Amino acid sequence: MKTIMIHEMPDHSGETVRIGAWLSNKRSSGKIAFLQLRDGSGFVQAVVVKEVVGEEIFAKAKSITQESSLYITAEVTVDERSTFGYELQVKEIEIIHEAVDYPITPKEHGTEFLMDHRHLWLRSRKQHAVMKIRDEIIRATYEFFHMNGFVKVDPPILTGSSPEGTSELFQTKYFEEDAYLSQSGQLYMEAAAMALGKVFSFGPTFRAEKSKTRRHLIEFWMIEPEMSFVEHAESLEVQEQYVTHVVQSVLQNCKLELERLDRDVSKLEKIQAPFPRITYDEAIKFLNDNGFDDIKWGEDFGSPHETAIAESYDMPVFITHYPIGIKPFYMQPHPDRDDVVLCADLIAPEGYGEIIGGSERVHDYELMKQRIKEHGLDEAAYEWYLDLSKYGAVPHSGFGLGLERTVAWISGVEHVRETIPFPRLLNRLYP
Ligand code: 4AD
Ligand code: MG
Repeated sequence: MKTIMIHEMPDHSGETVRIGAWLSNKRSSGKIAFLQLRDGSGFVQAVVVKEVVGEEIFAKAKSITQESSLYITAEVTVDERSTFGYELQVKEIEIIHEAVDYPITPKEHGTEFLMDHRHLWLRSRKQHAVMKIRDEIIRATYEFFHMNGFVKVDPPILTGSSPEGTSELFQTKYFEEDAYLSQSGQLYMEAAAMALGKVFSFGPTFRAEKSKTRRHLIEFWMIEPEMSFVEHAESLEVQEQYVTHVVQSVLQNCKLELERLDRDVSKLEKIQAPFPRITYDEAIKFLNDNGFDDIKWGEDFGSPHETAIAESYDMPVFITHYPIGIKPFYMQPHPDRDDVVLCADLIAPEGYGEIIGGSERVHDYELMKQRIKEHGLDEAAYEWYLDLSKYGAVPHSGFGLGLERTVAWISGVEHVRETIPFPRLLNRLYP
């Protein structure tokens, strides 16, 4: 007899198989018991009929506690009522380990309690679905960039310089020197783009930001493509094609998961490049005309502003050409204006906020040196980076997509804390 996983059941219809699983829930009467099983690959109902299995196995089925582990021998049958489409008719049960008093019961629990039990909470149906969607986004990311001639490059995590400003750095000792945990691999990816043309990275990034919002993590994962000989407008095209590919891949490959999360897929089905673009100037005017009198030209948007702008579209929207004063030192100034830069933030629909930040990069040596100085950065730490504009500088652009915000949007979950296995939040390093 074959030991299989739940997701392989469709290939074994009518056969008797063995499955290793955990009991997530059960209900029973005097004659029949329904066991809700999960094995990581999926969820399935197993039916135990007293008349078929006999007194002893039936009593065993009724006694299994939540999250006990077991092997089950059963026939795979078609079940038209369930979304999965299959069910198990139990013949034999072997309990591997009995779980006593599993803390997360089927009743409602508060978020802090669930977060304290994140190591167990991950087993639940909703969390399982979100993790599968996260995995599909990662898979589709590699697929998209490899299909388009990008090379995967891994920038360092321990760094001596900071691309996104110095206020949000985690500092650590590197033997005698000071070091920082990477807040973005971008500067290294620019070096890699000069060696390999089009590159992308995927890795953890750290922001010592005292923000406690549904969009902020202290440790999050970012995808950072960087492209030689690509200017601002073309970079936006890559971004909208990438996001479209990711959304369409999840729609195609995560149907059960989206359904389990009650995600309104009609909203995702509309996501197709090209995405609308508005300038920062237009966004300020729109906000001032729509009840946000407080925000003035030159100020950065808060989440209520981003949400108000996003609500006018059923597509992600690019806000382009931000004021030079509120963006990092490496962004290329507009050719006809010295007050704005060639950049864009991509704002997701439905209030999920900024999922991408990107720009064309400065590639003029003198200008780069001047901008590093203006931003009060230590030139010595950027000497290697300045070499990129000294030896064969070319126009280039890149961007960073925040994985967790993208997972939150596509899954339709409210808070980024549920989109990463073990979230690092302000005041949370456990578990
Ligand atoms: O806009 P950010 O800070 O851009 C950069 O770091 C650039 N160096 C990227 C590049 O051009 N290579 O961050 C990029 C994205 C944001 O749009 C957001 O999706 C996500 O990273 N992000 C966060 N996600 C969760 N928690 C936080 N604290 C985040 N900060 C940024
Ligand atoms: Mg940003």
